[in-house]
Amino acid sequence: MTAAEHVLIVGGGQGIGRALAAEYAGRCTVWTRRTGTDATDPAAVQRAFAAFVQQHGAPYALVHCVGDFAERPLLGTDPATYRHLFASNVDTVFHTLQAVVPAMVAADRPGRVILFAAAGVDRARGMRRAPVYFAAKAAVVQLARSLALEVAAAGITVNVIAPGLIEHPHSHRDSQRRLLPRVPAGRLGGPADVLGTVRHLLSPDAAYLTGQVLTIDGGLQL
Ligand SMILES: NC(=O)c1ccc[n+]([C@@H]2O[C@H](COP(=O)([O-])OP(=O)(O)OC[C@H]3O[C@@H](n4cnc5c(N)ncnc54)[C@H](OP(=O)(O)O)[C@@H]3O)[C@@H](O)[C@H]2O)c1
Repeated sequence: MTAAEHVLIVGGGQGIGRALAAEYAGRCTVWTRRTGTDATDPAAVQRAFAAFVQQHGAPYALVHCVGDFAERPLLGTDPATYRHLFASNVDTVFHTLQAVVPAMVAADRPGRVILFAAAGVDRARGMRRAPVYFAAKAAVVQLARSLALEVAAAGITVNVIAPGLIEHPHSHRDSQRRLLPRVPAGRLGGPADVLGTVRHLLSPDAAYLTGQVLTIDGGLQL
């Protein structure tokens, strides 16, 4: 990534996204509800992107980090929670991709899309801990694979980072501490454990890497 290239980080206000925003400070724009862009609202996303394009043109990279979590069994999930989890994890991806990626394609230069799923969702297995959240993240993986096909010829790669237990001030500590004994690496991850993979994906070295799920979980899914 060159100094002139710009990254749009959706959900860059806290946690992993915040660490990414610090890494690319001066070369990124952050959208969150607090900055006035609720990515569950397609009109808000279109408005925010129109303003973004006026200032920066099409971004080199789009990084989407939004995705609320709820640890609840499937039969114990009420419809409002189900809808919220899909709105937060899937609708925000769909609206953002539809608003941003056509401009990246039209720009006719290399580009990057990075989405966030969760470790294990690309495996053929049930997820007892948070089934609706993991189902929503599986949808994100499938959207990414299909988009990767649609935009590969335009020189744009689309990949998914699937974190395991990444600790930060707003992470789900109780759940993370409970699972810690099962992490082969013997520790929780931190945003810094994700940064290196993002750096690589944004670099020219990753131009031929697309449609993949990169799991960063200290071996939890092994
Ligand atoms: N941390 C982990 O251990 C872990 C594990 C597996 C997967 N993941 C995934 O990795 C990604 C990043 O996780 P994280 O823990 O860093 O998340 P996080 O701490 O919850 O931060 C999410 C960010 O998204 C913004 N946001 C939330 N809803 C939004 C909306 N509707 N529109 C726009 N922005 C919105 C939040 O800011 P506002 O509140 O201001 O909007 C915040 O800046 C997520 O997709 C998450 O599901 C995380």
